[in-house]
Amino acid sequence: MVLRECNCTRIVVVIVSVLVVFFAVILNHLENSEPTTSPRMTADIKTLQENYRQKNKTCFILGASGETGKLLFKEILNSQIFSKITLIGRRLAFENEAYENVFQEVVDFEKLDDYAAAFQGHDVGYCCLGTTKAKSGEQGFIRVDHDYVLNSAKLAKAGGCSHFNLESSKGADKTSSFLYLKVKGQVEADIEELDFDRYTVFRPAVLMVDRQESRPAEWLARKFLSPVSSIFPTALSIPISSLIKAMVINTVMEGDKVEILENKPIYNLGKLAEKTEK
Ligand SMILES: NC(=O)c1ccc[n+]([C@@H]2O[C@H](COP(=O)([O-])OP(=O)(O)OC[C@H]3O[C@@H](n4cnc5c(N)ncnc54)[C@H](OP(=O)(O)O)[C@@H]3O)[C@@H](O)[C@H]2O)c1
Repeated sequence: MVLRECNCTRIVVVIVSVLVVFFAVILNHLENSEPTTSPRMTADIKTLQENYRQKNKTCFILGASGETGKLLFKEILNSQIFSKITLIGRRLAFENEAYENVFQEVVDFEKLDDYAAAFQGHDVGYCCLGTTKAKSGEQGFIRVDHDYVLNSAKLAKAGGCSHFNLESSKGADKTSSFLYLKVKGQVEADIEELDFDRYTVFRPAVLMVDRQESRPAEWLARKFLSPVSSIFPTALSIPISSLIKAMVINTVMEGDKVEILENKPIYNLGKLAEKTEK
């Protein structure tokens, strides 16, 4: 009897050990499967920022009431690389604060052409719009993550925007059989057709962020990912601070006409930005 219990414990230990090793191998593979392109250091970042500042460029942010958008706004504000920032969304991103050279445009995304003026005259655009199937249903998700995003990009292009930045997702692929990844890949491809002078796609994994809105599934996922991310920081997730820092620093760096930044390069750019701040 005692011998049988002993054997059972041993079997459980072996199974658990095999599972741990198995997941560690998978996570290690995910951590190292993306290109580790080192950030393009054409000059000292501070010099690049200063040179960019001198150009007096303006930008808009779509979705600044969301988690990425609001932090991106603060990062851009602190960086002082733009002479004017316009926040475009279905509601005000903030009401009780006032910032110099920051403007807010509330638009109806169902009648976006009526709000073409909001998209006029910005050099750079950042799109952090998005919803979930759970929140908006399948059609609602496609409407926001594809149609609203693409229509905004079209108006931005017509309004003179030369650099469009899209927050997409890890795994985005227009041929995917998963709706989320398919829609993300499709909108990426459709915006590329608009032929911006520069088009940057960010493909972050799960964002590590203390979301204000209650999303139990995301909360649970983050609880699991939190210890994993301390060993494998980019295998499945990315700190939201890395993403927004990468979005800003990438803006002042030279880039290709079309750039697709996967999770790990985003993380590396974010680290570079952090180093520059020290
Ligand atoms: N969260 C992640 O882990 C993750 C990972 C990879 C990629 N992404 C992608 O990154 C983008 C931003 O993610 P996030 O987590 O920062 O998003 P978020 O916090 O949910 O914010 C989304 C933004 O889109 C706006 N929006 C949502 N539904 C809308 C509608 N029907 N009409 C007009 N505006 C609408 C929101 O406005 P309100 O504030 O008014 O709702 C908000 O400004 C999304 O495209 C998402 O798919 C997210």
